[in-house]
Amino acid sequence: MRTPLIAGNWKMNTDGNGAAELAGGIASRAGEVPDVELLVCPPAIYLTRVRNAIGDASVGLGAQNMSCQPSGAFTGEISAGMLTDIGAQYVILGHSERRHIFGESDENVNKKTHAALAAGLVPVVCVGELLEEREAGRTAEVISGQIKGSLAGITAEQISTVVIAYEPVWAIGTGKVATPEQAEEVHADLRKQLAECYNAEVAETVRILYGGSVKPDNANDLLGQPNIDGALIGGASLKVDDFLAIAAAGAAVAQA
Ligand code: PGA
Repeated sequence: MRTPLIAGNWKMNTDGNGAAELAGGIASRAGEVPDVELLVCPPAIYLTRVRNAIGDASVGLGAQNMSCQPSGAFTGEISAGMLTDIGAQYVILGHSERRHIFGESDENVNKKTHAALAAGLVPVVCVGELLEEREAGRTAEVISGQIKGSLAGITAEQISTVVIAYEPVWAIGTGKVATPEQAEEVHADLRKQLAECYNAEVAETVRILYGGSVKPDNANDLLGQPNIDGALIGGASLKVDDFLAIAAAGAAVAQA
């Protein structure tokens, strides 16, 4: 049984007080959804403040990106060791905004995935097709290429710790959510691929999140799909009520 993971990607939003308030609001209500795992990924500069606001509550802390290098002359970068040092447990890697705005390749994502695992962080590895790729019928091929490239050299033992997030690029921040059937098709494909690359037993343990315009009103249908194990949420993760409503949908599915 995979525990649903409900993750908030705050992107470059909030200020210090806002981040502490949002994290505190989520932390104070985490007890309402004991059947799911909650995770918040604030801007790196607010990680410590958010960690303090979370306190002892059962809410995970993650970064939105990191360097693949352990230390050295890499101006502006943050290492995996620095993230674990301040108490982060997760890191989002290869988000479509990193891939498409900052030119990150599968090779970059792969190096970061190895570095994250070596440091004891749980990587949330993101994949997703562009609208033109979907319309050209290339979704499966694109996702398969991204997953193979991003997870190259990751062992069967390591893969059970990895979280995968399927985020169709055309659904991110657009309000155009993938239908539960469209999402489930890709998720089932991803799990099949994991079974082929590793083995069926290991593939069953890997959590595959859906991301892209997840809101309280569509969360039930998405999270109810057999291969959707949680959500990576942008816009709706900036409101305590919305984030918790999505988590409650995940909890309902977990209890069913
Ligand atoms: P969205 O973002 O929920 O605002 O579409 C999702 C994401 O980018 O992770």
